[in-house]
Amino acid sequence: MPRAIISPSVLASDFGQLTAECKRMIRGGAEWLHMDVMDGHFVPNITMGAPVLSCVSKGVPGIFMDCHMMVTHPEKWVDDIAKAGGSLYTFHLEATSDPLSLIDSIHERKMKAGVAISPDTPSSAITDEIAEAADMLLVMTVYPGRGGQKFLDRCVPKVSDLRARFPDMDIEVDGGVGPKTIGVCADAGSNVIVAGTAIFGADYPEKIISLLKNTVND
Ligand code: DX5
Ligand code: ZN
Repeated sequence: MPRAIISPSVLASDFGQLTAECKRMIRGGAEWLHMDVMDGHFVPNITMGAPVLSCVSKGVPGIFMDCHMMVTHPEKWVDDIAKAGGSLYTFHLEATSDPLSLIDSIHERKMKAGVAISPDTPSSAITDEIAEAADMLLVMTVYPGRGGQKFLDRCVPKVSDLRARFPDMDIEVDGGVGPKTIGVCADAGSNVIVAGTAIFGADYPEKIISLLKNTVND
């Protein structure tokens, strides 16, 4: 299984201090920063978009922005997110009828491409063709839309299935992940770990980051 990558979700951070919060996470051992882009349409909330990401990439040189696009028209934002410094552009499979063309256009803009599935989408929706074209798969372990929700155990078998089919793939889990749930995620084979509340809500985020990382790498 590929090595652990920890991607704190800045949705749980103090947005007024966003660049400082990102730097704090990198100092604490995080490899990536997870940026939840919500459009108020694919999900009910609105969070941030390219202008905010652009400030973060300028304020935190070298940052790897793991952009989770919870948007209805993912093809519409590829250009803007690339210009804003996005590193990985993860779209929802539920939001597009042509994932392969979308992956191509993300690659043309020199970003990595991720494909996310919501809790009600089966892992079989990720075809071999999609997985071969993509750089990462994201299995949501809550319904997309907000932080701080309860981890859905029933999503875990999808991680196991994808790991069995794609041994070398980066597989991300997102939603309700923390010290109590990392064990099942790691056992199932996820190696890219998103955590918002568990990391930003901790007195010592670096301890949570290393616990999550060590559990995956063990
Ligand atoms: C949910 C977002 C998640 C969320 C995770 O729609 O995609 O990234 O911020 O937050 P926690 O870890 O608090 O569940
Ligand atoms: Zn997310």
